[in-house]
Amino acid sequence: MPIPGPESNFLWFRFVLGQPVVRELECKDVRSTLIFVTGGNVHTEVLSEQIDMSDDLQLIVTTSRLAQTTTRALARRKATEWGFPYVERSDRSMELTLQDAGAAFVFRNDGLVLSTTQTQLRFELGTAALRLLSIARGERDWLVNVGELVEGHRVFDATLGLGRDALVAARAVGPGGEVVGVESNLALFTLVSEGLASHDAGEESTAIRPVFGDSREVLSREADASFDVVVIDPMFALPGKSDGNFKALREFADPTRLDPEWIRQARRVAKRWVIAKARYEEPWFNSEGLQPAPGMKTARWWRASGGA
Ligand SMILES: C[S@@+](CC[C@H](N)C(=O)[O-])C[C@H]1O[C@@H](n2cnc3c(N)ncnc32)[C@H](O)[C@@H]1O
Repeated sequence: MPIPGPESNFLWFRFVLGQPVVRELECKDVRSTLIFVTGGNVHTEVLSEQIDMSDDLQLIVTTSRLAQTTTRALARRKATEWGFPYVERSDRSMELTLQDAGAAFVFRNDGLVLSTTQTQLRFELGTAALRLLSIARGERDWLVNVGELVEGHRVFDATLGLGRDALVAARAVGPGGEVVGVESNLALFTLVSEGLASHDAGEESTAIRPVFGDSREVLSREADASFDVVVIDPMFALPGKSDGNFKALREFADPTRLDPEWIRQARRVAKRWVIAKARYEEPWFNSEGLQPAPGMKTARWWRASGGA
């Protein structure tokens, strides 16, 4: 199989521990093909099924089989509120309940779960729980350090995900500050909005304002220097080490990659800092002002000054 040369639109990078060289094809329709070259053998793998559970996904609302009457009533109310069809679960399997739908918001007596036939995702604090505890003990958090966040700041989280960084930012900026979190996947946006609304973050935090949309578009409508810090934490092409909930998020997440225009918009909107996550340094990082974030143990976070 011929391997296209680096003059084409292939990005080159290496696995951190494994030795194979990987060439990754960047396509406009977000299909990604990995070509592994190991000992002269070429293997290809299409990643689109893994990373492109896009917004075309049809969503329904249902309950668990053992849901109480109050849980079923809540599910019906939320289905109307969110504008998704309500499907009576009765005693049916998830496969039969889903039919043509890609995922279901399943109301259980113990909370809400976003389910497919393969995976289940809940809103949970996860790593944010420990980070919030550290802050409460007066210890510094990496995001607070790198963003130099203080009370009253405005933070724009361009990749809300499960809301963990946003929750930490909300605690750091306090009730006088503001955190806007943008999520472009409708299923994730609905789950995280619902989770944040029912989570009591306490009086020391500001309420996070979730926004549904592509943050590149949302940023383009924001005024210059209207936020103190913009955070961009996009998905990596390949999964890293993470908790189970975060692996499930991958099933739904928007795979948009970091690119120069995203950083430019973020730098225009940020007064102080843009903080971005990337597994590998891209050739354009330096020209867009991105430098390794200070004080981080891993080189995955980058920072550029705002006001550009
Ligand atoms: C790695 S996760 C972010 C995790 C988040 N920092 C947290 O602490 O929970 C990336 C999230 O950003 C979302 N996303 C990716 N591209 C986006 C875009 N252009 N606009 C808005 N959200 C985006 C994905 O759907 C996914 O939920």
